[in-house]
Amino acid sequence: MEIRTSRLEDLDQIEKLVVSRMDPSDGVDARLLMTDPDAGCEWVAVAADGDRIVSTVTLMDETLTLDGLDIPAGQVEQVATDVEYEGRGLVRQLMGWAHERSAHRGHLVQVMIGIPYFYRQFGYTYSIPVKQTRPLTKKPEPVAGHTIRRATEADIPILDRLQDDAQQSVDLRMGHTTPCWRWLINRTGTTTWVVERDGVPVATGRSTPPEEGDVVLGEIAGADDAVKALVQLVDPAQVVERLPVLEEFLESRRPGLEQYLVRIPDIPKLFEHLRPVFTKRLQGQDPADVLLGFYRTHVRFRWDGTEIGPYEWGGTLLGPGEEGGAGIAPDLLAPLLFGPHGIDGLRRWFSDVYPGPNFDLMNALFPPVTSDLLTFYLP
Ligand SMILES: CC(C)(COP(=O)(O)OP(=O)(O)OC[C@H]1O[C@@H](n2cnc3c(N)ncnc32)[C@H](O)[C@@H]1OP(=O)(O)O)[C@@H](O)C(=O)NCCC(=O)NCCS
Repeated sequence: MEIRTSRLEDLDQIEKLVVSRMDPSDGVDARLLMTDPDAGCEWVAVAADGDRIVSTVTLMDETLTLDGLDIPAGQVEQVATDVEYEGRGLVRQLMGWAHERSAHRGHLVQVMIGIPYFYRQFGYTYSIPVKQTRPLTKKPEPVAGHTIRRATEADIPILDRLQDDAQQSVDLRMGHTTPCWRWLINRTGTTTWVVERDGVPVATGRSTPPEEGDVVLGEIAGADDAVKALVQLVDPAQVVERLPVLEEFLESRRPGLEQYLVRIPDIPKLFEHLRPVFTKRLQGQDPADVLLGFYRTHVRFRWDGTEIGPYEWGGTLLGPGEEGGAGIAPDLLAPLLFGPHGIDGLRRWFSDVYPGPNFDLMNALFPPVTSDLLTFYLP
């Protein structure tokens, strides 16, 4: 069995494999990505048994933005193994390929959405809430003066601007890259819409095809009247929650929580990158010697009231609290940095996450984080 980067001649088999394990539209997506100049075969790995492709994964480039700082990220998608080859560790090996590639491409985290539990086995932690998809209970009244059309590649700057506006108020965001917009516009698995008023684009959204059952409308962005017109014109059965103006049309939120999974492969590298974010967060805190204990490792630095000094990394540390530091289980660092609870929330659930005696400083360093992520597949 060979684990390797895909080649163009694998495409037909990869397409068949993902269609057999997922949806017909996933085959279209595989073809779009593998033949795209900005993605291509380099983004896809396979397990090959001789000439037969029996398992595959795709690693996409993404950018997470936290408090205005871009963080290069990878997203794993299109994971499938031929039924005859399941349970032989092929995806475990392909995830290894993806993580190696991801590090090579400079990604500091990996973020993904996936089947329950599975990816925890590869170092991922449930970290960031996914917006709920909720039934529409009533349709907005028609809003005069709005028309709708499918988005084209020429709309990409407008789609970017509308999504950017919709994400302004959150701490952590992920938009679509330009190549990703191109695939989204050309794929069959969803339709990207533009609503216009007097010929000017004023709203956008993305919906699933009616052939796949209940139409879901997500990634809704735009002015209040324009998004009501969008919902009116697309007429979905369900809507991915996002904007307060549509709340009155949606069924109430259900209990239960879907979350994006995040993996942090190298804590020191990520911390070096996050220095500007931490510096901003600590403004107003008194000077202090800061200790963050990850149990297997720890870091010390001086906060002088203006800047963070050099990080000094060390090895195992059993009781960071006793030395005046915070305790942070390394597998809970992703929800701590990117999730909605902050250190004060997580400490209520996990005994191995706590701020220690320097409570105010640690709360400032690890606050609750609001988020809005756009991913290739609607949640
Ligand atoms: C889920 C799927 C990708 C697993 O592929 P696979 O090649 O059988 O996975 P592996 O053999 O590499 O399994 C890796 C580990 O996960 C375990 N595992 C396998 N399937 C699992 C499942 N559904 N849930 C939890 N663990 C599972 C294996 O026992 C193995 O553990 P080990 O390495 O400790 O022994 C495959 O079943 C599949 O294609 N399913 C249909 C499509 C799908 O759901 N894709 C994922 C979309 S997010």
